[in-house]
Amino acid sequence: MALLNILKEGEETLRKVSRPVEKLSPRLIQLLDDMQETLKASGGVGLAAPQVGILRRVVLVDNGEQVLELINPEIIETKGTQEECEGCLSVPGKWGITRRPAYVKVRAMNRKGKYYEADGTDLVARCFCHELDHLDGILFTDNALRMLTEEEIENM
Ligand code: NI
Repeated sequence: MALLNILKEGEETLRKVSRPVEKLSPRLIQLLDDMQETLKASGGVGLAAPQVGILRRVVLVDNGEQVLELINPEIIETKGTQEECEGCLSVPGKWGITRRPAYVKVRAMNRKGKYYEADGTDLVARCFCHELDHLDGILFTDNALRMLTEEEIENM
């Protein structure tokens, strides 16, 4: 396993659309292992492959019980809305209020090639949306209702 470098806002790769994974390979398993280690070290709740420079539709989401590995993920159901604070490992030091669904259900493939569904509310729902946005080159700052001020960040 290896710690991967997390790209920061301004890097062109973060703005590109990632391609689906067509077949499972040892390289993909390696990527998942490295992303797991990188996410754990970062203290974040989610990580998308383009953030580590790989333009493939692969994300990790920590749902509080485990770190889900989502390959070719799709949102299949949403309910309600929430407006909460969001940040990103690729946009360090910035936080913003985003509008997201209150509940999100996704369908994705796991590392064994099996499709499964996962869902969540609150932070987990935000994280699904946030990480999937990365696969389309979207950062949370693009759609934030507003960014937090320095004073608000200090008081967080
Ligand atoms: Ni992010």
